[in-house]
Amino acid sequence: MPLDLEKAKLAWNQIYGGMLESETEKGIVKNYSKHAAAYDQCLQDIGYNIPTTVAELVMKYGNLGSNSQVLDVGVGTGLLGEELNKLGFSGKLDGIDGSEGMLNVAKNKGIYRDLIQQFLTPGCTLDVGDVKYDAIACVGTFSSSHVAPSVAKCFFKHVKTGAPVIISARLFENSTEDSKFLAELRCMFQEICYSGEALLLCEHPTNYYGVNFFTNENDPSKPCPGACFCLAKT
Ligand SMILES: C[S@@+](CC[C@H](N)C(=O)[O-])C[C@H]1O[C@@H](n2cnc3c(N)ncnc32)[C@H](O)[C@@H]1O
Repeated sequence: MPLDLEKAKLAWNQIYGGMLESETEKGIVKNYSKHAAAYDQCLQDIGYNIPTTVAELVMKYGNLGSNSQVLDVGVGTGLLGEELNKLGFSGKLDGIDGSEGMLNVAKNKGIYRDLIQQFLTPGCTLDVGDVKYDAIACVGTFSSSHVAPSVAKCFFKHVKTGAPVIISARLFENSTEDSKFLAELRCMFQEICYSGEALLLCEHPTNYYGVNFFTNENDPSKPCPGACFCLAKT
């Protein structure tokens, strides 16, 4: 169904004029808490497609039976969990996020086993104890003023050999920071692969949002492009 562009514009303004309006990473996470109750509707109104694509890729590349464990980094309100459930995922799902408000919305959906509040910074390790996951996914969370590219390095400590790590990114560059961020993220994936820690399975192109108000206010109806980087721990 085509998106309602008026609704999409209102939702876009709420996201880019409210949720993401802060000078600091911690401020952004606080904003997410403030807007958590409205998040799912806003993202639906702009045709946020990435959780669906990442769920399909997790199911494709993961070896996931009922005993499998999957970690959703930057879980937010749990949209990925909902998509995985639709695809018949029967394992255990954990999530990490810095925002208490977003985690509370995810908790109320009853999909996740553990939901851990952690603010991720370069050099951190994930607060998941010694669990080795069968897949890690990170949707919509690697972007400028969110989680820094180097945080991706630590994901490989927490997955089994051969397990996929799937990370989405917005490919539309709206600012110098966006371009710098994307270049750094790509470099980080190269570094991880050159170090022998992982293989890049594919860069899967997809729509990020169904609309794009970044460029042309008069014609926002073209989707905003994105990609999912699929790596596997070696
Ligand atoms: C765009 S939302 C994506 C949420 C969910 N994965 C989805 O696709 O709907 C980004 C999420 O990353 C979290 N986040 C941003 N920066 C973070 C950080 N440094 N540490 C932990 N979580 C962070 C926010 O709280 C928010 O829930």
